[in-house]
Amino acid sequence: MTNTHTYNLNREIKALDVSKIRQFDDQVSAFEPLIRLTLGQPDFPTPQHVKDAAKRAIDSNFSFYTSTAGDIKLREAASKFVETKYNLKYNPQTEVIATVGATEALATSLFTILNPGDYVLIPSPFFSLYDSLVKMSQAIPVYVDTSESDFLITSDMVDKTIQRLDKIPKAIILNYPNNPTGVTWTKDDVINLAQTLSTYPDMLAISDEIYSELVYDQTHISLGEHLRSQTIVINGLSKSHAMTGWRLGLIFAPESLTTELLKTHQALVTSASSITQYAGIEALTHGIDDALPMKQAYKKRRDTVVRALRKLDLDTTEPTGAFYVFASLPEDISITSYDFCYEFAKQYKVAMIPGDAFGDAGEGYFRISYASSLEDIEIAMDRLTQYVNDLRG
Ligand SMILES: Cc1ncc(COP(=O)(O)O)c(C=O)c1O
Repeated sequence: MTNTHTYNLNREIKALDVSKIRQFDDQVSAFEPLIRLTLGQPDFPTPQHVKDAAKRAIDSNFSFYTSTAGDIKLREAASKFVETKYNLKYNPQTEVIATVGATEALATSLFTILNPGDYVLIPSPFFSLYDSLVKMSQAIPVYVDTSESDFLITSDMVDKTIQRLDKIPKAIILNYPNNPTGVTWTKDDVINLAQTLSTYPDMLAISDEIYSELVYDQTHISLGEHLRSQTIVINGLSKSHAMTGWRLGLIFAPESLTTELLKTHQALVTSASSITQYAGIEALTHGIDDALPMKQAYKKRRDTVVRALRKLDLDTTEPTGAFYVFASLPEDISITSYDFCYEFAKQYKVAMIPGDAFGDAGEGYFRISYASSLEDIEIAMDRLTQYVNDLRG
């Protein structure tokens, strides 16, 4: 039966777009069988010892709510993990929260700090969740186009953007290694930006470091190390331990912020899943280097993609982390990102995401996720070569 009722719903929600990544994925489903280089999730299984831990948790009836911030053993393991890996010092009793994926960590953070009308700086192109959460909070996203600066926001860009606003933004959302561009920051980049942000002491930095274990050829430097009092560090196990479906994220923030974040987290989800937390303890203690073999495989795939793109003369900033390559459309062909990707999927059965799914600054680019088998990637790059050569005539 058709439902003709008109619902008087929340304005911000009604105005939100469904993720363009999902939309595109649905649209090209008609062209199955496809090689999908679209997904932002590891193609590896969760490590066996982590799965075994979850089974033990079920069998030993670890089935109750944990404390709101998460089981203390998990918080201790998380705190030790980020100290060992990134030199971060967060008290597990008062400065760590286990969340339902990095997604809930981001929602909790933004809902806790934003009031309607607040500005939030978002370097663009960006992961679209940021935009949705800011708008849901009735705050105002201020996009900073990074396409002319190798997709890295610089101190100068922060200063100039703030100068043209009528008030200091409440927050900036940073993400490195970055989705969709695969770029990450050097130690100097992080220190410079921390220095600039410290001159705006009322502004918070939400630093989404979910890909921190997937940095190639350099060390991940957390903003939490250099701007502790103003930073909420977001991390989680989705990418490092191939656990996207388990839904385990982490927040690290100074105690006075964590106390407030906990109120939002409690209202949204009570606590993260107990079984998942138990698995997380295993991952963050006995599996601290579980990402390494995956990283080696990703790196090989990255090199294959970048080599093919360079041969085609498609401009790409060297991806130094995560599992994405963000490439320019062929400059000699006039086509939108959407049409380029749509036609490629239709004619050559390979799906990649049009750059405009990551904000206006992404138009003119396409994102390749190389979280797929090397074999599929090689086939996809051969087809891309044919496609671009065909377009060029
Ligand atoms: C930059 C970034 N942040 C956060 C997330 C969400 O992570 P989770 O699956 O832990 O919620 C993703 C997922 O793709 C991401 O790419």
